[in-house]
Amino acid sequence: MSANTAGTGFLAGRRALVTGGAGGLGAACARALAAQGAYVVVADRDGAGAARVAAEVGGESWEVDLLDTRALESLSLEVDILVNNAGIQTISPIEDFDPAAFRRILAIMLEAPFLLIRAALPHMYAQGFGRIINMSSIHGLRASAYKSAYVAAKHGLEGLSKVTALEGGAHGVTSNCVNPGYVRTPLVEGQIASQAAAHGIPEERVLAQIMLDKNAIKRLIEPEEIAGLVTWLASDQAAMVTGTSHIMDGGWTA
Ligand SMILES: NC(=O)c1ccc[n+]([C@@H]2O[C@H](COP(=O)([O-])OP(=O)(O)OC[C@H]3O[C@@H](n4cnc5c(N)ncnc54)[C@H](O)[C@@H]3O)[C@@H](O)[C@H]2O)c1
Repeated sequence: MSANTAGTGFLAGRRALVTGGAGGLGAACARALAAQGAYVVVADRDGAGAARVAAEVGGESWEVDLLDTRALESLSLEVDILVNNAGIQTISPIEDFDPAAFRRILAIMLEAPFLLIRAALPHMYAQGFGRIINMSSIHGLRASAYKSAYVAAKHGLEGLSKVTALEGGAHGVTSNCVNPGYVRTPLVEGQIASQAAAHGIPEERVLAQIMLDKNAIKRLIEPEEIAGLVTWLASDQAAMVTGTSHIMDGGWTA
């Protein structure tokens, strides 16, 4: 059954693009935007996964590898809401960090968002409305050891988002970052299982003692909770919210 409420909802008539929309947070965002009436383009290198989510939400899929940044240079996007969400992770000490992996992360998580924003702004400026929503992380604001590329890319995304806000303000275009702590996605569930195996402890202890150690609320964030924030940022109500970063981390950074 389609989640698109066709014509109703506070995003009715809006066209959204969600990168990395085949799974995890991106799929949750696609569902939540569609549930408010937006027509959603689900972009992912996983074409089959993107097609599944697109069919579910009554939108369309776009199979694209964001690593191929050259192909994005001549792109023109007619979307009202752009959610830059696709991301990957590599964990390694800097002295061993594979330079190719570092470049890949910067390309997918910083250069591609720049090129997609660049492709979307002319349409947004022409109509006097646009919403750029960048899926950053707590690691856009704080560092963790062994995540040099990820932390650098997310900090870069924060800067890009603020510049977009300054340039877009006169044209009805807002730009914001969303900064989740650990969210229950396949990516994080895999990390829990491997940490439990590595430390020889139950998964509940990995969560409480390692991943959620600094949290005031000792549970993972649900993807739908982040998607709710994204959907609100896309709304007309959020017109004065721009150039800022929206933390949802259960108190991790308090
Ligand atoms: N899960 C978390 O705890 C968490 C916390 C903070 C921030 N984030 C951020 O949220 C975003 C989504 O994370 P997630 O946990 O849902 O990850 P995920 O791995 O579940 O999903 C990421 C999606 O991006 C797609 N993707 C990866 N590389 C791509 C490429 N080159 N071209 C096109 N698509 C590509 C994947 O196919 C996948 O569908 C990322 O930017 C991540 O940094 C996640």
